[in-house]
Order: sequence, then C-alpha cells, then structure tokens
Amino acid sequence: MYSDKVMDHFQNPRNVGEIEDASAVGEVGNPTCGDIIKLYLKINDSDETIEDISFKTFGCGAAVATSSMVTELVKGKKLDEALTVSRDTVAEALDGLPPAKMHCSNLATDALKNAIEKYKKTKE
Ligand code: FES
Repeated sequence: MYSDKVMDHFQNPRNVGEIEDASAVGEVGNPTCGDIIKLYLKINDSDETIEDISFKTFGCGAAVATSSMVTELVKGKKLDEALTVSRDTVAEALDGLPPAKMHCSNLATDALKNAIEKYKKTKE
C-alpha cells in the first residue's frame, strides 16, 4: 500500500524537533482527522534562504512521511521556491501516496506556507 520511500520517511523521519531560535513557526491542523503539525524555519534574512527546518507532528504515518519529505525538499531553497512545493510534488517525491492519504500531505505544505507568511509579515 505504501511505497518504500514513504515507509523509510515514516520510520526514519528527517529533521524532527524544534528550532529554538526559529525565524518563524507554522502551525496547522486538519479539522477532519484532528492531526496537527508545527513547522520551524530558520531563515537567512539577507537572501531569504531556508537555512534550517524541522517539524513536530501529532499525525498519522503519512503525515510524518510527507512532513519529513517537505523538510528535505525545501532545505536550502529560497522562500519563493519553497512556496512552489505542492502536495503533489511531495507525493511524487515519495513515489506516490494512496488516494485516501493525499490530504495528509496538505498538513506539511500548509504549515510551510503558514510559517513563510508569518515570516514575511514580520518583515513588512
Ligand atoms: Fe490526519 Fe493523515 S489522517 S494527517
């Protein structure tokens, strides 16, 4: 049912935890299943690059795997590039997700957008 990549990221999630001096923290929940995620970003102010990223989730296995993959996909990227990462990008990078689990990948991408929006607001 799950690809080897999904199982790998579920069993060995990358970039788990908090960043104490994070530039921004995104937080979203899925009202349907009740799962939540917090995503921490450390951003280089001068060139708007994501220097570090981590997450904590109270979510299902697919939420763990997709969050882990999102952190790998956007680490080192500029904010505008990171915003182009969609749930489909994440699912593709994981060699697919079962259709019933596609919504789980919204958690991490929405938390990423939330954190970037918060960061941009502090710079206005
Ligand atoms: Fe809630 Fe997957 S079932 S995020």
